[in-house]
Amino acid sequence: MPKTFFITTAIDYTNGAPHIGHAYEKILADTIARFQRLSGREVFYLTGVDQHGQKVQQSAQQRGIEPVEFVNGITELFLALWKKLDVKYDAWAATTSDVHKSCVQGILQRLWDEGKFYKSSQSGYYSVRQEQFLTDKERGPDGEFGEEWGEVVLIEEENYYFKLAESRQWLLDLIDTRTRSANPIVIPEFRVAELRNAVEKLSGDLCISRPKSRLTWGIELPFDSDFVTYVWFDALVNYISFAGYDAAPGADLTDFEAKWPAVHVIGKDILIPPHGIYWPIMLHAFGFTDEQIPALLVHGWWNIAGAKMSKSLGNIVDPSALAEKYGCAALRYYLLSDIATGRDADFSNERLIQRYNTDLANSLGNLLNRTLNMAKRYRAGALRRMDSPLADFTNEKAAAYKKQMEAFQLQAALESVMEIVTRCNAYVEETAPWKLAKDPEQADKLDEVLYSLSEALRIVSILMTPIIPKEADAIRAQLNWTGPVSMEQSTWGLLPDGHVLGEPVPLFPRIEATPAESGA
Ligand code: MSP
Repeated sequence: MPKTFFITTAIDYTNGAPHIGHAYEKILADTIARFQRLSGREVFYLTGVDQHGQKVQQSAQQRGIEPVEFVNGITELFLALWKKLDVKYDAWAATTSDVHKSCVQGILQRLWDEGKFYKSSQSGYYSVRQEQFLTDKERGPDGEFGEEWGEVVLIEEENYYFKLAESRQWLLDLIDTRTRSANPIVIPEFRVAELRNAVEKLSGDLCISRPKSRLTWGIELPFDSDFVTYVWFDALVNYISFAGYDAAPGADLTDFEAKWPAVHVIGKDILIPPHGIYWPIMLHAFGFTDEQIPALLVHGWWNIAGAKMSKSLGNIVDPSALAEKYGCAALRYYLLSDIATGRDADFSNERLIQRYNTDLANSLGNLLNRTLNMAKRYRAGALRRMDSPLADFTNEKAAAYKKQMEAFQLQAALESVMEIVTRCNAYVEETAPWKLAKDPEQADKLDEVLYSLSEALRIVSILMTPIIPKEADAIRAQLNWTGPVSMEQSTWGLLPDGHVLGEPVPLFPRIEATPAESGA
């Protein structure tokens, strides 16, 4: 049986409203999932929310409500956003759910029984106001902890630790072997050196507990009810708990193993240490084989005018408002076409409008509208199946698109599609069908042009399906193409002789930019 294509995203913290970075990641994974489905594969797309931890407990306390009430409110915002942005997942990972809790506790109990944790006492600086341990990173330029931390005391605390450092050499070897293979552990490759360097320096172990005296909002350790699980140990497990994993000896893992391993889509900030170090070592400890260690697709960040988005700078971009204003298609298209997977990019409304107007409204929308109008006027919408000078070009670009999508290079894949559109528009100018229509001797040539454009548009609509699914459907409806929609249908020549096109309806209305939006 062919293996399910399993893709996950980072699960978003529920301590604040969703922003454009969250939206990008979910749309990126959604598009990859849709492409794989279009290619005939069984797909399992898992995304969700990371609901435990100190920050959530604090935010709830500040509002005078229970953490569960607080996270439920924020979770609703994420759920509504994915609906609005047409992000379609197969399972929803909410870490407060019972399935997840019992999986995490099952794992903890097993690792405890196997002696993979130890209890130890450590001392450190602790901010009473912020209820957290401080490290040297939190010291100001004068070497002191700033006023924001309030009273800082040296305390000693007992906790449970997971043995990390003893797996250092195993992980280094795994990174090296996998990087040389067809199944690299980190994509894109330029991130591997960073990870390798961090693993080289790995010395300490991972503290996997928090005493309930300072944090109660978490999953209780099954072997010591005075502690809850450290939020990252809890959160990472979502990737397997919601896919049917069970740590109990002898558990039936058939369903789980038909899917696993996943491709994890994550941002560059959470590669080191959680996904690149903790997670593989955790899976290794659970008994996963080297081949079962998942691949990490690490994307870059959307910045604002070169700066990080942050609450303090007040430059957080709300994806829901953008979708309301410009439409879901404009937002999805922009977020996938204006950034190379792995690299950073600058977000601006101006660029969003520009890309939409140039590519979707002017190039694709116009081509569709022109083609249908000409076919209607000159041939009452009926096509003759003719040989076409566009056939090879379009097939080549569709093949390039497929390779690029498989390699997660969505920007390049979109360029391949747009090259078909650009070629078609140039072909209209070259052949001037409005002139051909006046000359009865050019009837065959006119039929060739109308068939070529319609067929190219049919293929473009298939290739655009993962990116802007609703609009791609609308293009096919206008072309009156009711046949199956799959990557197999993206080869030239499937519109039959005598096919009658549908009615032209303007699809991508131009966005009129305000002076501020046009950079004036
Ligand atoms: N809860 C953790 C992940 C746990 S995964 C087991 C977390 N949450 S987060 O809400 O802070 O971030 C969620 C994802 O959004 C991360 O992959 C992060 O890299 C991504 N992004 C956060 N800001 C971003 C941008 N400005 N641009 C692109 N992605 C960004 O980390």
